[in-house]
Amino acid sequence: MKKIAIFASGRGSNAAKIVDFFNHNQNVASVELIVSNKKDALVLEMAKEKGIRYQIVNRQGFYQTKDLLNLLYKYEIDLIVLAGFLWLVPKYLIEAFQANIINIHPALLPKFGGKGMYGMNVHKAVKAAGEKESGITIHYVNEAYDEGNIIFQASCRLEKDDTPEDIALKVQQLEHVHFAPQIAKLLQE
Ligand code: GAR
Repeated sequence: MKKIAIFASGRGSNAAKIVDFFNHNQNVASVELIVSNKKDALVLEMAKEKGIRYQIVNRQGFYQTKDLLNLLYKYEIDLIVLAGFLWLVPKYLIEAFQANIINIHPALLPKFGGKGMYGMNVHKAVKAAGEKESGITIHYVNEAYDEGNIIFQASCRLEKDDTPEDIALKVQQLEHVHFAPQIAKLLQE
């Protein structure tokens, strides 16, 4: 059975889906740890409710120490899943986990990625570009934002009068349907 750490700093709706999925698929993996860089992030409330251990990190600790790495080793983490975690992942973590760090991005990369492209910024940019579709990209994480190899994409049609909020909802539905099963698939390969 594999062990997952989720890094998330927002609402944590994806993190919650992943926790629930593996609670029902305990033979595949379990979520052992949630890491957040925001001490008041809603994802931490979810972690408390569901009884998942969590760790809050600050910039100095994350980039200048190996404390988090030691924690990930302590809990024998096999896979790091970024689900709304916006800090660039430092080199020491990439090197330690190699191909075992993945991210979900709320658009069809390589379009609409890069620094500053997160959450509603992405959906506003998609709207401004007049795109006829958007979607999700699950990809490996390397030292540049949103540039790692793509593992999976799913798309949704956009209507002319969809607002960025409408686009966000459509994309989020795709995330909630596909992310956890794709993680399970990856872990079973
Ligand atoms: C998700 O839509 C995810 O794709 C996005 O943050 C949201 C987190 O939502 N990530 C990025 O934009 C990364 N560039 P959640 O906290 O409800 O899971």
